[in-house]
Order: sequence, then C-alpha cells, then structure tokens
Amino acid sequence: QPAELSIYPKRKLSKINNNIYGGFTEHMGRCIYGGIYDPDNSNKDLIDEHGFRKDVIKEMKELNVPVVRYPGGNFCATYHWLDGVGPREKRPRRPELAWLGVESNQIGTDEFMKWCELVGTEPYLCLNMGTGTLDEALAWVEYCNSTLDTYYANMRRRNGREKPYGVKYWALGNEVYGPWQVEQNTKEDYAKKAYQWAKALKLLDPSLTLILCGEIGTSHWDHHVLKECLKVETHALGGSDTAALMDMHSIHQYTTSNDPIKNAFAPRSAERAIEVTASLIDLARIQNGVSPKVPRQMICFDEWNVWDPQRAVGEKGAEERYTLSDALAVAIWLNVFVRQSRYVGMANIAQSVNVISPLMTTKEGLVKQTTWWPLLLFSKYMRGWTIATHTSSPCYEGTTEPKWLQNAGETPWLDVSATVDDDGSVNLVVVNVNPDESFQLKLDGMEGDDRSVDAYTVTANSWNAVNTADKEEVSLEHQSHSKLKEYTFPKMSITMLRWRTG
Ligand code: AHR
Repeated sequence: QPAELSIYPKRKLSKINNNIYGGFTEHMGRCIYGGIYDPDNSNKDLIDEHGFRKDVIKEMKELNVPVVRYPGGNFCATYHWLDGVGPREKRPRRPELAWLGVESNQIGTDEFMKWCELVGTEPYLCLNMGTGTLDEALAWVEYCNSTLDTYYANMRRRNGREKPYGVKYWALGNEVYGPWQVEQNTKEDYAKKAYQWAKALKLLDPSLTLILCGEIGTSHWDHHVLKECLKVETHALGGSDTAALMDMHSIHQYTTSNDPIKNAFAPRSAERAIEVTASLIDLARIQNGVSPKVPRQMICFDEWNVWDPQRAVGEKGAEERYTLSDALAVAIWLNVFVRQSRYVGMANIAQSVNVISPLMTTKEGLVKQTTWWPLLLFSKYMRGWTIATHTSSPCYEGTTEPKWLQNAGETPWLDVSATVDDDGSVNLVVVNVNPDESFQLKLDGMEGDDRSVDAYTVTANSWNAVNTADKEEVSLEHQSHSKLKEYTFPKMSITMLRWRTG
C-alpha cells in the first residue's frame, strides 16, 4: 500500500481549546521545591526576588502555557490550604501522606498565584476530597475569589492581596477511586459527595468551572459518576436551565512499553478513551434529560504523559529520562488531542518541571528532554482549528498496546494531525514510527507551488537517544523550502510543516 497524504485547510472540523496545552505542578519530588522555587541555589542569577527559577519561568512563557493545575495530584488528598498562607515563618511543617515526605508549606496559594502571574498562565486548583471538608473547600474559593467583606476574603487582603484572583477551574478531588488515596471512595459515595460539594460551590460562586473526577474514561467509575452527576440542577444555579453543576469530566492516563515502537504508538489508546468518554457524557445527558441549551461537558485530560515508574529515578520514581521513542509518543499524544479537539476542553501534561517532565532543572541551569521538542512545536503552532486530513500508509505488522485497541497489522506507520490558525497558517504534524523506512509523499492539498514552507524535524539515529546536561542528542532542526510539492518524512521522526494559505 503506497503512502498518501491529503490536507484540506478549508475543512475546519472543530475549534481547538488552547487549554489542551496546559501544565501541572504538584508538591511532589522536585517539581515545586527545586523546580519552580529554588531560593537556596547558590547561583543567584537563576533566582528572582521571590525565590522562583527565572529560567523555568522563561521556558514556560516560551511554551505559552495557558493553564496550570496545582497543588496535585495525589498530594491534594491530605493538603490543607490554610497551612500554606500567611507569614511563612508561622507555616507548619507537616508529614505528607501521598509521597511520604515532609511538606514545608513555603509555597502555598499566594506564591503559586504570583508564579502564574509571572508565567502569564491561569491557575487550576484541585480540592482535597480526602481529608478535606466542604467548609474548607468553600473557604478556599472565598479566599481566592470573593469580593465581599467576609472572613476568608479579608484574610487574603491581610496577606497582601486586595484584588480577588478569580480562579475559574476547580477539580472535585483527584483519583478518588484509587487505593493509593488516603480516603479512597466508592463510585456511589463519590458521586453523592461531588454533587453536594458542587451545589455548595456554585452557590458561593456560580462562575466556577467544576471538574468531576473521572478515571480512565472507559470504566464503571466514569459511567456511574457521569450518570449521577450530569443532572439538571436549577436550584443551585439561580433557576437557570442553561447551566450545569458539572462543567468537565477529568480522565488520566500514562503510557509506556519496553518496546520502543509499541511505546510510541501507546497514546493511541487515549484516542479511544476520549471517544468513549464523550459517548458516556452524551448518554448521561440524554438519560437525565439535560437540555441541549446546557453546554456539552468537555473532557479534561488533566494528567497525561509517558511514565514508567520502574524506569524513572529520584524520589518515588518521579524523574524520567526520556528517549526518542518517548518524544514520538508525546507527539502522538498531542496529535490525539488535536484530532479530538471537539471533545477535549483541557489537557495537562503531568508534569511541568522535574517530575515526569520535559523540563529538568539542575543547580546550573536547565535540561530540555527529548519530549520538550514536540511539546514546544505543538504548543507554539498547533492552535486554531483542527482541519481534515486523509492519510493512508503501510501498517506496523505487530500488535499495539493495550491489546483490545487494534489487531496486528492495523496501525498505520504515520500518525497525522493538522490545524489552521486564526492568521491562516496551516500546520501539519506527521509522526513516522517506522524505524527502518522513510516515506516520500506528495502533499496533496497544498495549493500553489510557490509557497514557502517551514519544516521542523525531531529525530535521531537511535530509539534510545536522550538529552542530559552533558549532551543533547535530540533537538529541533529547522529548514525553509520553497516550491514544496512532496516531502520525505524520515524514519523515527516527528515533522511539522507550516505554511500560509493564499
Ligand atoms: O503525576 C503524578 C501522579 O500520578 C499524580 O499525583 C497522581 O494524580 C497520578 O497518579
């Protein structure tokens, strides 16, 4: 079967929510302490007046990260936000039960908000539905968002912040189904509790976007909590029948395989998870009689990445050294989000610094891992609208993981997505997972023959190529071409072609 690729820049399929390029910073390993905040670093040039790493802020700005989830993750399940506000010398040090460390609380709500301001990003906070109470959750929303003359709003003012932070995104717990949670819950109990919490939170602040805790998108948990929580609820919403208590449904997935080809293809399972979750959302709405006037709940894929805790080093298997195969996997993850932009309202790479991250700090500076480059390309350019493409390519003969996804011989070597942005630039990403063959393709749909095309490539000679502080084996190559009619997509590579429509 010959490889073919057609692009249809005029066929816009769906608007891409910029929030699919979201980040995540958790109190875990060296993400917060040593990652975004490093006041004791002896190289004072790296640190700003707040103790933040200037180089990390610069790179987050370069990525143009629209939203960052905080403070976890599993960390949320025992986190009391009041420990992290007010004079730093009075903040308690606490045993921390998710990662079994000690939390100094030197970074808390106000510091995180300051960091978001410096990065130019929006905060997304996750509530403690483990040991935390509803009162505590309401107090946190009041502290962050209220303009009233009330206790917690005044506490914020006393702590130096007059203007409310206006935090829009709030998650109703994290992975509450998991045995690793301090207060693991059944789907029945969680659904009841989330519904009650959502009512109270929306009564306090109807402008919140509330995110229900889903699992992997295809489980009994997802089905049940959607069925119970996507209901018409006019009482808590000022009589409105055009709004809902729940605005998004979160799902998590990490992919990995010891086989580099299977590892690169593994994120294709997330595509199926998105399609199934979208159907479960529709089903719950239909069965509960939710009017089409209520905006459709979007998927919040608020933890995704390649992660093999056996391979990773550092505290709690948190620090990965990513290979070329992982970079291709990240590019396929992002292709999936672009292709499924109709259903995905937010996605957050887990995580943004040091912990399973494309960006690592050392005492002297930064290491950009292999996975940094696809993330940068997508986050910079793959915005606007998803457009239609047609690809056919020879297929990988083996099976992909998980086994239920595709039969042997059904996975095309080329994984593709394309966008057109608001200023008329077309962006095409082609991931060629074939380790032996490049594919020379005619570019059908690229009108005119005098177009200048920017080509960005991420590749290396080996699946195991990595970047460290001493060597950078995987980076970004850039070339400009004119009169491009066909293109050769190298073996084991990510290519982005970018041109302007006439
Ligand atoms: O991102 C690391 C951890 O993975 C998060 O804390 C948790 O939510 C997930 O299990």
